[in-house]
Amino acid sequence: MNTIEVKDLSKAYVDLKAVDNVSFEVAQGEIFGILGPNGAGKTTTLEMIEGLRRPDSGEIKIKSISVWPNPGATKELIGVQLQTTALFDYLTVREMLALFGSFYRRVLNAAQIDELLEAVSLVDKEKARVNELSGGQQQRLSIALALVNDPEVVFLDEPTTGLDPQARRSLWDVIRKINKEGKTIVLTTHYMEEAEVLCGRVAIMDAGRIIDINAPKKLIEGLGAEVKISFQSSHDVALDDLKKQTEASETSVFEGQYVLYTKDVQTSIIGLFDMAKADNFKVENLHISGANLEDVFLQYTGKGLRD
Ligand SMILES: Nc1ncnc2c1ncn2[C@@H]1O[C@H](COP(=O)(O)OP(=O)(O)OP(=O)(O)O)[C@@H](O)[C@H]1O
Ligand SMILES: [Mg+2]
Repeated sequence: MNTIEVKDLSKAYVDLKAVDNVSFEVAQGEIFGILGPNGAGKTTTLEMIEGLRRPDSGEIKIKSISVWPNPGATKELIGVQLQTTALFDYLTVREMLALFGSFYRRVLNAAQIDELLEAVSLVDKEKARVNELSGGQQQRLSIALALVNDPEVVFLDEPTTGLDPQARRSLWDVIRKINKEGKTIVLTTHYMEEAEVLCGRVAIMDAGRIIDINAPKKLIEGLGAEVKISFQSSHDVALDDLKKQTEASETSVFEGQYVLYTKDVQTSIIGLFDMAKADNFKVENLHISGANLEDVFLQYTGKGLRD
């Protein structure tokens, strides 16, 4: 049985379809990611599942319990980290944990709170006030706050946005750790690397719709290409021609950046330079790399993940 079931979920703001007929399931113990650019509808989707925003239509169940119209019924099962958490500046880390704990029937005991502080590396900050914490420490605190009621399902809305690479990695470790302890995790991100390394499955979301859902590796394999070649050109290049000459499986251009996907790098590179010579254009900034989730997104939507 799936831990989360979302069926035909929609929500509009006036005439904007923020979430447009979205369906997916999350299995027990999964780390499930929703990957998409700003405004894709990630937060709206998450907050409807969390019982914080009312859907226009559709069905949401957590452990077979309907979230709507009575979100109180699933409240104790879930832990929520909001995209913007209003932390109370003058409370200490310990006091915040106690306050959030008071919202729930079931809470961690004192020893478990100690473990939680350990997990998010805030032991030496337990007496620090929120306004004395760095951005990364506040973000770790907000994850800890999502765990005070020992939830079965944890929702994290862009948990690492704004963190430096090192702080991001250390948060990934925290997320993996709570997942290993058996918690199901749903997170949103616009970092494709984060989705790739953390999530068992990823939903790719754009303009309110889910375009595809699969394991990151499967999504990338679905491009039908192992390698991505990108370059800029001194002159416009006809994509059809480029595709033929390089024997690429796909070609695209975005903001002057030509991209082609291929299984045979050598043939494609030779084809590209033969074409450049014949058509008298210059290949600049040539890059060859493995395809990634950003490429999957580009392929589906014709645009990059970050705008
Ligand atoms: N309360 C609201 N009233 C009106 N429009 C809203 C409201 N909340 C969100 N929207 C709009 O709905 C769309 C989806 O917003 P949402 O916050 O779900 O996107 P997101 O994918 O979480 O984006 P981000 O990556 O920036 O957090 C956006 O176009 C946004 O402007
Ligand atoms: Mg959001």
